[in-house]
Amino acid sequence: MASHGSDRLNQRALEGSGVIPGSDLLASVNSTRARTFTITRTTDLLDPQNPALHEASGFAKRQLVVADDGIGSAQLTRLHEYFRSCSVEAETVVLPGGEHIKRWDSVERLVDAFGAFGLIRRGEPVIIIGGGAVMDVGAFACSIYRRGVPHIKVPTTVLGYVDASLGIKSAVNLRGLKNRLGSFVEPVAVLLDPTFFRTLSQRDLVSGLGEILKLAVGCSHRLLEDLRTHGPDGLATKFQGSALVLLDRAVAIMVDELGVDLYENDLERVLDLGHTFSTVIESTEPACHSHGEAVAIDVVLTLMISAGRGLISFDDVAAILRLAMALGLPVSPPSEVDGLLWQSVEERSQHRDGQQRFPLIASVGEVHFVGDLMPEEVNSALQRVRALEKEEVC
Ligand SMILES: NC(=O)c1ccc[n+]([C@@H]2O[C@H](COP(=O)([O-])OP(=O)(O)OC[C@H]3O[C@@H](n4cnc5c(N)ncnc54)[C@H](O)[C@@H]3O)[C@@H](O)[C@H]2O)c1
Repeated sequence: MASHGSDRLNQRALEGSGVIPGSDLLASVNSTRARTFTITRTTDLLDPQNPALHEASGFAKRQLVVADDGIGSAQLTRLHEYFRSCSVEAETVVLPGGEHIKRWDSVERLVDAFGAFGLIRRGEPVIIIGGGAVMDVGAFACSIYRRGVPHIKVPTTVLGYVDASLGIKSAVNLRGLKNRLGSFVEPVAVLLDPTFFRTLSQRDLVSGLGEILKLAVGCSHRLLEDLRTHGPDGLATKFQGSALVLLDRAVAIMVDELGVDLYENDLERVLDLGHTFSTVIESTEPACHSHGEAVAIDVVLTLMISAGRGLISFDDVAAILRLAMALGLPVSPPSEVDGLLWQSVEERSQHRDGQQRFPLIASVGEVHFVGDLMPEEVNSALQRVRALEKEEVC
């Protein structure tokens, strides 16, 4: 064995560091990566008079944009005109929006486009404009290209606005497995503009309310009341009027919740409510539920499991189920998924570091985490949800 200096010093190093005898601790490297990003709300981002987009990219002379084709040809044309009016040489990669775009080959397509554009490493942030799916794949590509190039997120769906754009998670699906590859990556800026919602389908508007329902049940009675009061008007006006207050409150609560632990060091996350069964509900082929819809179904099932344990009253659960249905959200999964729900609990346990950490709801805004969820209680809660849903429909 090599000699390592005085025995006393060596002993102290070993005790302090837990180094294996015979090994030398040479250094302990402390890595910190502090990043600040801004979240700004604006109106009509693509109006040439609005400097927000150009400013967010640091007035770059060249601009690469990844855009969701769902925003429509009129907005894509305005995007080109916007940059022309700023004398910026802009190129746009248009991706079809929707869950199916969260694939590895989309990442390859994007990094090829980055290369063809000759994207420089720091000074040309990529602007990603679209729904949660396009933002997830775009941010992921940015996070791995040359080990990371900056990006700006511009959500164009309600769900993207109140959730997917605000955090630092990026992802693609792999072999039918939801978000199997991904990264934590901060945007340079997030620009919120409800004007984009004017072209959203009713279903995509409703889907966004699924995530708001989760946030409300998990965090805030007041948000639940806002959802009840402003949700229907928001759907009718596509959030172009006073119902925007609902989204404002949802964004504020989401930012607060995310900010506590952006990197998910604590795996007992209130924001994981609605994300145990939803994974399998939205991933099972043929896909019949969007992300927000699957989250709503998960929340209702979780509420019923909680009621089965006597944590929350069945009346309170029924009231939330009725609200979800009134907003046009589905509340029970398709029967093909029944046999897979428990599989989803087990898969999520891997994600939660080997423990269920299943969020139960004691009351609106009060979540308890448990590790003893049983398949039978999931099944009986499911039957109760279906029975209640049937009663409401009749
Ligand atoms: N990274 C995160 O923290 C995070 C958080 C929540 C959800 N997500 C992810 O977000 C995705 C869901 O996002 P989503 O609900 O926005 O759905 P989506 O991205 O699948 O978009 C839904 C549809 O809306 C279209 N669209 C987008 N903008 C439009 C517009 N302005 N007008 C008309 N159509 C438009 C899209 O083309 C698509 O067809 C899921 O993949 C989910 O996993 C990510």
